Amino acid sequence: MARDDQTDTFRPGPEHVAIIMDGNGRWAQQRGRPRLYGHHAGAKRVRDIVEACPDLGVRYLTIFAFSTENWKRTQTEIAGLMGLFRRYIEREARDLCRNGVCVRFIGDRVKLEPKLVDLMDNLELMTAGNTRMNLTIALNYGGRDEVTRAARRLAYEVQEGRIKHDEVDAEMLARFLDTRVLPDPDLVIRTSGEARISNFLLWQSAYAEYEFVDTLWPDFTPAEFATVLKSYTQRDRRFGAVKA
Ligand code: IPE
Ligand code: IPE
Ligand code: MG
Repeated sequence: MARDDQTDTFRPGPEHVAIIMDGNGRWAQQRGRPRLYGHHAGAKRVRDIVEACPDLGVRYLTIFAFSTENWKRTQTEIAGLMGLFRRYIEREARDLCRNGVCVRFIGDRVKLEPKLVDLMDNLELMTAGNTRMNLTIALNYGGRDEVTRAARRLAYEVQEGRIKHDEVDAEMLARFLDTRVLPDPDLVIRTSGEARISNFLLWQSAYAEYEFVDTLWPDFTPAEFATVLKSYTQRDRRFGAVKA
């Protein structure tokens, strides 16, 4: 932990880490294998990183699994990914439950296949009472889509007379987002060397710290994760204010 000059106390590591897990396709390509092979390797990494969180002091982990833009990929890749998500839930549910992980999904479920949505609903229900750690999986998630859906629901409440238009403020809008029960991310990590956010947590990341690492997601180890978390503690977060 780094010393905080302003308060002369030790600044802790991030409570909420969000990860854009990128680079599965390139990882597979480097090995002359189909893209799905990379997604399978990536899913194994998810398990390692989730398991590392409690010891590293990360109480909330949010991972980007499928974006609203990923429907532009081939049918083969999309179907492969959807199958992978189903199998991930089926395979991991018991351990997640046993390890005290509370799982939530964010994103629009309407476009997802009913069988997958059932598994997602069940896993949320099964793990709802867990408090050791919070895992949020962004699936068919897009920041603009999330804010748009929130605005639509908010507009409906105004139309029905339950909210007055001049009562709407940032805090209220945030209560209509998929992330309503989550704190804002402190740190957003993106793997694979791309330095963009690709529509991830647009609203929530207003003051997040960013870390872009070159490692492809299937190669991202808990050790590298720990290093990135450590570098976060050296950062000076000002939130628009100036140091005393
Ligand atoms: C991230 O890896 C996983 C998903 C978007 C589902 P990619 O599939 O984007 O891998 P690259 O960027 O092509 O290497
Ligand atoms: C972002 O990665 C989405 C996920 C990691 C699920 P992409 O690979 O889809 O993003 P772009 O296309 O490079 O911006
Ligand atoms: Mg990518």
